[in-house]
Amino acid sequence: MAAPVPISEVKGNTRENRTAAHSHIKGLGLTNEGRASSAGGGFIGQAAAREACGIVVDLVRAKKMSGRAVLLAGGPGTGKTALALAVSQELGTKVPFCPIVGSEIYSAEVKKTEALMENFRRAIGLRVKETKEVYEGEVTELTPEEAENPLGGYGRTISHLLITMKSAKGTKKLRLDPSIYEAIQKERVRLGDVIYIEANTGAVKRVGRSDAYATEFDLEAEEYVPIPKGDVHKKKEIVQDVTLHDLDVANARPQGGQDIMSMMGQLMKPRKTEITEKLRLEINKVVNKYIDQGVADLVPGVLFIDEVHMLDLEAFTFLNRALESPLSPLVILASNRGLTHIRGGSSLPRSAHGIPTDLLARLLIIPTHPYSPPEIQQIIKTRTKTEGLLITDPALGQVSSLGEKVSLRYALQLLAPASVLAKVSGREGGTIDVDDITECEGLFLDARRSAHNLATGDGYIA
Ligand SMILES: Nc1ncnc2c1ncn2[C@@H]1O[C@H](COP(=O)(O)OP(=O)(O)O)[C@@H](O)[C@H]1O
Ligand SMILES: [Mg+2]
Repeated sequence: MAAPVPISEVKGNTRENRTAAHSHIKGLGLTNEGRASSAGGGFIGQAAAREACGIVVDLVRAKKMSGRAVLLAGGPGTGKTALALAVSQELGTKVPFCPIVGSEIYSAEVKKTEALMENFRRAIGLRVKETKEVYEGEVTELTPEEAENPLGGYGRTISHLLITMKSAKGTKKLRLDPSIYEAIQKERVRLGDVIYIEANTGAVKRVGRSDAYATEFDLEAEEYVPIPKGDVHKKKEIVQDVTLHDLDVANARPQGGQDIMSMMGQLMKPRKTEITEKLRLEINKVVNKYIDQGVADLVPGVLFIDEVHMLDLEAFTFLNRALESPLSPLVILASNRGLTHIRGGSSLPRSAHGIPTDLLARLLIIPTHPYSPPEIQQIIKTRTKTEGLLITDPALGQVSSLGEKVSLRYALQLLAPASVLAKVSGREGGTIDVDDITECEGLFLDARRSAHNLATGDGYIA
């Protein structure tokens, strides 16, 4: 059985934010009664879908949504991705939210189902409460003690670390192992920081800067904290949020035995670890034990699969099964497809949204609708503000009409290049005018015009 890993060694798994196009969305913009206000949270229109998402958020908070799935269905540019992001913002940072795009699961190195499983487990959180013996206080002295390198050769090594910590009740001087010095450097601890060191594991956590230094000039946003109460050496309740995937990674041991050859092998190769089904089952057992003992709480989060029609039959089957598992998050799917063939199932009849009927049957479907011209205009206006662009009223009118005629996406994408043109032609303050929009329209085709060109012109290589 895998020994439960000390939670403190577990790193987070935040992924890069790839959705700058939605930076104006701050939430679902609902009133206390759950009604959509006309332009709340950066959202314009799409009231019914926002209210439906609000109910989903409430259910997730009440932990009544795990193992279920919701489908956001609607045409391109109707705000499906934006809605999913707003749901995650409403849930807050403590509830895991794992966004992927359907096509992400195809890779030469990892099996599709393995990639899906990994993301399922990124979307399930565990909140662990532990009472630990710690040393906590403001760092008033930090001196590494050097010694001759015992292995000979050049250089000196750190033999000990002297650290003095101050709390409200007193100060304590500790002489610590050099490994803790590394941890301290990683956390970038300097004099005047409040930190705690776990007595058993030696894990170091920087809490913030002591508020005695609150007046010092600092460019970075710092968190100032008071000097800890009580003694330096004490018991402290520590709350940590990790995901099941974090636990998997932390417990996956490098492959190979403990003999010299395989250890050398590990030095040469980048450490490849494998998360096996067996390991996951064992982690689940440990997790369930923690939950039964009241040490940990399960925090089922949200797995968002955008462009879900990119999944194939095998992946859908897996999804169906994974939703049955007792440790399952809420799954939000999004698709802009109508009746179409399922990927990998062209011999089957066409199916709604490119999703097999057995999965469809268990989905709650939230439709999104195309926007009205005034809504389009307002969305574009919001976007120009967020991107810090200036635009004349006639130009705004023209972009908006493109939003209606072509697509909202196309209209939004023209804004940035149009502002470049506006600056190049030296318009005052770089304000986008009608001419810039017209020129951009000529420079950048939309999908329909490009297809039309191909059909009527020479059509490249067929
Ligand atoms: N109701 C809305 N209010 C404000 N912005 C919106 C709204 N709907 C969509 N957008 C914005 O329009 C763009 C396209 O929407 P998106 O969510 O990507 O559409 P979809 O995923 O349905 O294809 C994004 O930049 C999105 O933030
Ligand atoms: Mg989308």
